[in-house]
Amino acid sequence: MARKIVITSGKGGVGKTTVTANLGMTLSLMGARVVLVDVDFGLNNLDVVMNVENKIVYDISDVLEGRCRVKQALVQAQDHKNLYILPSDGMKTVSAVTGQNLKAITENLSPLFDYMLLDCPAGVDAGFHRAVSCADEAILISTPSFSSLRDADKVVSMLKSYQLEKVSLVANRVRGDLVAVEKTLSPKDMESLLKIPLIGVLPDEDDVMLYGTGFSPNCRIGRAFRILARNVEENTRRIYDATARYSGFFGSIKRGLRRSV
Ligand SMILES: Nc1ncnc2c1ncn2[C@@H]1O[C@H](COP(=O)(O)OP(=O)(O)O)[C@@H](O)[C@H]1O
Ligand SMILES: [Mg+2]
Repeated sequence: MARKIVITSGKGGVGKTTVTANLGMTLSLMGARVVLVDVDFGLNNLDVVMNVENKIVYDISDVLEGRCRVKQALVQAQDHKNLYILPSDGMKTVSAVTGQNLKAITENLSPLFDYMLLDCPAGVDAGFHRAVSCADEAILISTPSFSSLRDADKVVSMLKSYQLEKVSLVANRVRGDLVAVEKTLSPKDMESLLKIPLIGVLPDEDDVMLYGTGFSPNCRIGRAFRILARNVEENTRRIYDATARYSGFFGSIKRGLRRSV
């Protein structure tokens, strides 16, 4: 049976879809069978981030309305034989979906995969509850900004009303240069504020957008995702040090360079 993990946040635009796509890809490269489900029906874009929008024949609403079986709606990710996407089609899907029929779909897919990552809508409205009620675990994404943390705190409270096995934090878009000089909250500060275990630190890197073309395995964001994926898989809490390259004499030069771009 798949581990069903909802990727959630309070605020929009903090990296849920990015984490769903890249964590899914990394887990599949480690040998797991992974399905990514786009349950952000209003602003669905997982298919675009995964570069499969031209391969879509059916979506979740076709499954819900009986036009196809769930397996027929799965789209295989480019170059990854163990990675599939169940796409949605914006408002067309919203009108067809209820919490119960979405749960039936996830239960149906569960025996075929090791991981199911649910890309959740932002906020704490019906879409959030629908997504969380299908999951066993939650990963909460927040950036170090106060607005993101404040919204994340509300989500932590909401998640308490569900019987989830695990709720963990991923600090995204961490600027190591600013953390090194204490100009922004560190991932550890974020963990203390939200009071949920930190399992991932992802640096702010433009490389993250290269997903479709594949980023080089040794780039910083690739390494950070591998540490996160191992933590998810092994239930550990190793942390990527985003400040390492900004410490010491050469680090201060890199900090200066980063500020000037
Ligand atoms: N670690 C990161 N470094 C740089 N840009 C990022 C990072 N994570 C996300 N982004 C960018 O932030 C924007 C919003 O990300 P997205 O995953 O769509 O957020 P959400 O799904 O939460 O709305 C995208 O342009 C994405 O490329
Ligand atoms: Mg998104």
